[in-house]
Amino acid sequence: MAYRTLTSHDEGAVRTLAVNRPDKLNALDLETLNELTLAFAQAAQDEAVRVVVLTGTGEKAFVAGADIAQMHDYTPLQAQSFSRVGQALMLTIERLGKPVIARVQGYALGGGMELAMACHFRIASDKAKFGQPEVNLGLIPGFGGTQRLLRLAGRSAALELCLTGRQIDATRALSLGLVNEVVEAERLDETVNALSAHLAASAPRAVAGILDAVLAGGECAIEQGLDYETQAFALCFSSEDMREGTKAFLERRKPQFKGH
Ligand code: COA
Repeated sequence: MAYRTLTSHDEGAVRTLAVNRPDKLNALDLETLNELTLAFAQAAQDEAVRVVVLTGTGEKAFVAGADIAQMHDYTPLQAQSFSRVGQALMLTIERLGKPVIARVQGYALGGGMELAMACHFRIASDKAKFGQPEVNLGLIPGFGGTQRLLRLAGRSAALELCLTGRQIDATRALSLGLVNEVVEAERLDETVNALSAHLAASAPRAVAGILDAVLAGGECAIEQGLDYETQAFALCFSSEDMREGTKAFLERRKPQFKGH
């Protein structure tokens, strides 16, 4: 399927989606949000896709935020709808059931940082910059930033970044637990490729179970979280991959997961 604001490229079981508005530093307008939502829904349904890499076109920006020019004239009701579309996209990504890696090569600001935080991994170039600068526009984050930043990095970092609107570099983002790894810009692709290949070769039922248990469990009482874990654990026993993984261990060989 052809998109106007995105590119999509498959290599084996890894689908790479790139926001493709480099002249606007990949800012998220409504059309881009809608196309991303569709693209992720398709990735969820396509059994051949095991991992999604999300990035932006060009070296300068992952995504520099929601489209300020579009928002400028919004009424409160339009803003409410825009926020809900953005939040629904972030939930679609978070609940995809397949790992999503944000490849952050440059600016990840505002909606760009919110997009990165909805992914399951963030691999950043040492040139990446993060921030929630909405306060500088008389705004607040509207695509889940106040909530995901709070959960990922704690209240102190969430208040600092949202209230000051300041940009932080990748090293500070790493120290706050906002990114998984920071690598030199030249090593970004090989790092993302190695991680995506590793995840794509894993047993998908187990991967989906971990995503479900960690993400749903993080939002509820421990008894309910433990129940999610038990259900996901038990479901793995319905897969051939689980029989293969345990058998391979007993036979002292590497498992060959087939994805069912
Ligand atoms: N929305 C709409 N357009 C954006 C944008 C955004 N969030 N971020 C950048 N752009 C556009 C600029 O308007 C400019 O377009 P133009 O060439 O048609 O004038 C183009 O992208 C390049 O950006 P520019 O500001 O010239 O690049 P820069 O290198 O001087 O600065 C940034 C880079 C990221 C620091 C700066 O673009 C910026 O502050 N962007 C907004 C970040 C933000 O507040 N995001 C949260 C939005 S809620």
